[in-house]
Amino acid sequence: MPLTLTRADLLRSANFIAGQWTPGPGALLAVTDPATGATITQVPDSGAAEALAALNAAHAAFPAWKKLPARQRAQTIKRWNDLVLAHQDDLGRLISREQGKPLAEGKGEVAYAASYIEWFAEEATRMNGEVIPAPVPGRRMFALKEPVGVVAAITPWNFPAAMIARKIAPALAAGCTVVCKPAEDTPLTSLALVLLAHEAGVPAGVLNIVTASREKTPEVVDLWLDDARVRKITFTGSTPVGKHLARRSADTLKKLSLELGGNAPFIVFEDADVDAAVDGFMAAKFRNGGQTCVCPNRVFVHDRVHDEFASKLSARVAALKVGPASDLASQIGPMINDRAVEKIARHVQDAVARGAKVLTGGQRLPGLGPTYYAPTVLVGADASMACSCEETFGPVAPLTRFATEAEVIAAANDTPFGLAAYFYSNDVRRIWRVADALETGIVGINEGVIAAEAAPFGGVKESGYGREGSTHGLDDYLHTKYLCQGQLD
Ligand code: SIN
Repeated sequence: MPLTLTRADLLRSANFIAGQWTPGPGALLAVTDPATGATITQVPDSGAAEALAALNAAHAAFPAWKKLPARQRAQTIKRWNDLVLAHQDDLGRLISREQGKPLAEGKGEVAYAASYIEWFAEEATRMNGEVIPAPVPGRRMFALKEPVGVVAAITPWNFPAAMIARKIAPALAAGCTVVCKPAEDTPLTSLALVLLAHEAGVPAGVLNIVTASREKTPEVVDLWLDDARVRKITFTGSTPVGKHLARRSADTLKKLSLELGGNAPFIVFEDADVDAAVDGFMAAKFRNGGQTCVCPNRVFVHDRVHDEFASKLSARVAALKVGPASDLASQIGPMINDRAVEKIARHVQDAVARGAKVLTGGQRLPGLGPTYYAPTVLVGADASMACSCEETFGPVAPLTRFATEAEVIAAANDTPFGLAAYFYSNDVRRIWRVADALETGIVGINEGVIAAEAAPFGGVKESGYGREGSTHGLDDYLHTKYLCQGQLD
């Protein structure tokens, strides 16, 4: 089915550098619909030359953008927000087509993305510094906030609009300029967002975007990593790539925000409201087909409520409608690509071989296409299984029984990752005890939907550092300059 947009020119197939749509090196990257494998369009398969041109443009644009009064930057970003919302339907269609999520989720993601743009438009005017009481007479001391400089944003495929928004909006609000490399699977939404930013009045060179394939991405990113003019890298993606970025940017000591892999535990205590826990789990786990860094990956259920939770959950999961975004009834779309489905299938096979039982799902859905996997509930999962140690990033819920609070806290924390955790309990003392004990950057307590523009999003341990959203999300694009003025007596 052809992609029909009310505004056909939102579908771009060029890089955007120094305020111009530029065709790139000649080599092209096909962007495909994960539901069918059909090519939607082609974009440049850029390399070092395009990365350098984008960086030169961002570097040249920085002084003027930084000097602009914060209110003017805020007004421009606010116009961007208005345009994004005005094109919610088209952007939602674009997201669903290139990423695969159901259309309602695609449109919902646009609203989610806009919430970050609006938030940071407002935060731009609140970059307050401090006046510090001087320890000696005749001096005045100040701490000012300044933009860090050129930011390189490397964004993931799972939220093609929201992750761009929550990296680029704070960068622009702070007065930084940006070079961006969107995920190779989903560059089209980001190109459309950049077009709208340009129409909102973001000046030439302030926001630049280059597209590249998986193979060419290192060429683009390494150029930015090695160039001292890039002062910050912001990345969402895998922990191995995050570690590479940290190592490689060490020579120029760039500021880093890394939102990396998770392995979120979801704990249902014996005193929980089981129906609420099932509702919360459905919302947390099956959003975006399970392809979300904060999706629960391991489910720990107390012995006393295990069977009730497992049977209620299986009934809900079995009823999920799987299908392409073009079918408005779909609740779970295709996975992003073949590699994603292979990993899910490997995790389920491994769990079953090690003794887990499938309550529902547990297989591919070849009738729909090679990128579909049935939403799955497993019982009898344990820590030896791949699905417990690695992030499955798909619609699989492996349940493990537990007996004591101490045991489940130890199990939940027994991972190098620390992005999000969830638990359900109605015991107020336990709630504070468990929230304190969980080693994660985010904790959902009797709640499965945790992300919001006003909240700090980010992890600890090997899930990375830095925060996105909230006032902390702006701070990540600023440094503090101390001014000391003497001889005032
Ligand atoms: C992510 O998967 O990295 C982001 C998820 C979210 O914003 O909730």
